[in-house]
Amino acid sequence: MNISRSLQCGHAERPIGIFDSGVGGLTVFKALRARLPGEHLLYLGDTARLPYGTKSAESVTRYALRAASHLAERGVKMLVIACNTASAIAMPVLVREFAPLPVIGVVEAGAEAAVRTSQSGHIAVLATESTVLGGAYERAIKALCPGARVFSQACSLFVALAEEGWIHGPLVEAVVREYLHPLLEEKKRDGLDCLVLGCTHFPLLKETIAQVAGAGVMLVDSGETVARAVEKLLAEQRLTLGQSTRGGARFLATDGVERFARVGSLFLGERLAAQDVERVDL
Ligand code: DGL
Repeated sequence: MNISRSLQCGHAERPIGIFDSGVGGLTVFKALRARLPGEHLLYLGDTARLPYGTKSAESVTRYALRAASHLAERGVKMLVIACNTASAIAMPVLVREFAPLPVIGVVEAGAEAAVRTSQSGHIAVLATESTVLGGAYERAIKALCPGARVFSQACSLFVALAEEGWIHGPLVEAVVREYLHPLLEEKKRDGLDCLVLGCTHFPLLKETIAQVAGAGVMLVDSGETVARAVEKLLAEQRLTLGQSTRGGARFLATDGVERFARVGSLFLGERLAAQDVERVDL
């Protein structure tokens, strides 16, 4: 693939490409649109292969390469890996394969925000099973703050709850309480004071997670932090599009455009129609 050639015009007018395993990355899309309203955004949800969070590193890397190639072929000016699992596992490969296209992942941005937020240096990461197994958050946090203590917890059921729109209520609270139990013990014993929402779906459960985590624990949402990182990198590379007009948005999905639109509306906080979503094969 000839990325260099497609970037030669280096035009700021090109869209920012964002990809996720499904609709969850729309939390990142939303944060990007709020921070950079003039930018054109092209979002790809790999719904045919969802979930990534329980797949092997080999599969996640292969899927991520395909999704990123599709966006690169469409001439995006930057790649944002909204999926925490893909960022955690495939980031080095994506950076290498797509150079000089700038690639930003959610893990580094989330780790940076966590280190900035935590006073005690005792940080918890809530993520999918594959993200936790890969240990990328722990490495990224410790690279920034070698003395940090990182406690990681896989919370697989949160993905299904968010996809169902179950974000409040006693059942959700019970599930959150179950997963957070060991972290609350750490908080009591050892001053854990920061919790990273290390999965695209978890910001939807933010209120319940915050309530269960209780006072003294700050939540870090990777959507907001990655939007800040994208803004900075665009400025550094002189790729920022003027903010005078509203940027466009396009949505691509590898399967189930109706479901993408229905569940996506929940993540986006506004109505998305099936005809707004283009079905693509990777
Ligand atoms: N997008 C994934 C993540 O952020 C969650 C959903 C999945 O398992 O594919 O880790």
